[in-house]
Amino acid sequence: MNVLLFGKGGREHALARKMSQSSRLGELWVTEAGNPAIDAIARPTGVPCDIRQAYRLQQFCDHHDIDLVVIGPEDPLADGWVDVLATPTRVVFGPPKEAAQLEASKAWAKQLMRQAAVPTAESRAFTNAEAARAYIETRDEPVVVKASGLAKGKGVVVCGTQDQAFAAIDRIMVDREFGEAGDTIIVEEKLEGQEASVFALVDGRNIWLLDCCQDHKQLHEGDRGPNTGGMGAYCPTPVIDEEMLGVIQRDIIMPTIDGLRREGIEYRGVLYVGLMLTYAGPKVLEYNVRFGDPECQVLMARMDCDLVEILWATATGCLDTCDMDTDQRVACCVVMAAGGYPGLCEKGLPITGIEDAEADGSTVVYYAGVARDKAGQLVTAGGRVLGVTSLGATLAEARDRANAACEKIHFENAHWRRDIGDRVLVNR
Ligand code: AMP
Ligand code: GLY
Repeated sequence: MNVLLFGKGGREHALARKMSQSSRLGELWVTEAGNPAIDAIARPTGVPCDIRQAYRLQQFCDHHDIDLVVIGPEDPLADGWVDVLATPTRVVFGPPKEAAQLEASKAWAKQLMRQAAVPTAESRAFTNAEAARAYIETRDEPVVVKASGLAKGKGVVVCGTQDQAFAAIDRIMVDREFGEAGDTIIVEEKLEGQEASVFALVDGRNIWLLDCCQDHKQLHEGDRGPNTGGMGAYCPTPVIDEEMLGVIQRDIIMPTIDGLRREGIEYRGVLYVGLMLTYAGPKVLEYNVRFGDPECQVLMARMDCDLVEILWATATGCLDTCDMDTDQRVACCVVMAAGGYPGLCEKGLPITGIEDAEADGSTVVYYAGVARDKAGQLVTAGGRVLGVTSLGATLAEARDRANAACEKIHFENAHWRRDIGDRVLVNR
């Protein structure tokens, strides 16, 4: 099977690496060159990935007999690449553009949740800053202000006071920090509890839940500091047991898929539900229509089966014919970030020690913001640089191994959280 992969971050390195181990894989192509680890196993198409010139990638796929297209990031899903690349002989892993609104428009997602009675924070949508301010003045409890559109995980402000909420509205609607993504905002009640990420493969008919993960969004240890794209994750998480997973499937995943069906939308791909585990049960914080980053890294580290086959089965509606084996060890991914992240970061700093870090045989270093300079040296090229992912018999062992591996890797001003998973370790 010839496969084309969209994206070039840490999540896509994890997907590409797992696909490259498949006996079903023919040629692996990637839409963008530049990630040295992906470039070592996939060939760049050399064709611009611009939806206004979709015919160029369509022609590429026809010419190179691409059988399966796998879309990693949210933007190409929101742009509708699934709709333009799928043909009777070529399938795409990912939901169609209409379904991608679950992530691309929080206002749309909230309305679907309301109609399908999916538990979530109470909220209201506003297209006018004055009206949003007036609403907040009537609320005593803390609120969360969110840009409705895609903002790379940065368009959410959890506000402790009314003044913070007013400031968030100004940033999003007046200063337009996230551009059009902030034309509509959501103001919602602040929920309390542990957060967890649930991933369901959905093939149109069958739903297949993967083991649950916990991400660590805040920059600093102890869950302090600004939100980031994710500083580390582990899987499986003990905060969701079998019984709660059953509730999540029955009360959240199935009503969501049914709600989409009532809108005439068939969901295929991975549905990622961000949950807050509140005293009143699990509630949806957000939907995403792709794998999480860095959750994908821990999911792939544990997956003990043929990923190409599974993605193909999801895209063609025959998940029920697949078996999925999972390594029973715990996986922990620690993100090594560049100085300055989540703000502006210095790029081009030499990275050393990756081979050493992987020498324990239980660690894989996924490349995210990494490039190769003219001399062939690995250098930093983004905020989240590496996803150092280790397996261990317990979460503590996996975490210690990943931290020990991070110590062996060097680039200037590297920083990472040494407490990934501690939330559950200290509570036990
Ligand atoms: P989202 O992109 O909607 O998942 O929001 C990003 C992060 O903001 C989440 O992972 C939570 O940590 C936090 N968050 C979002 N909504 C709420 C809420 N209603 N209550 C508390 N925290 C929230
Ligand atoms: N790990 C958070 C995200 O992928 O959105």
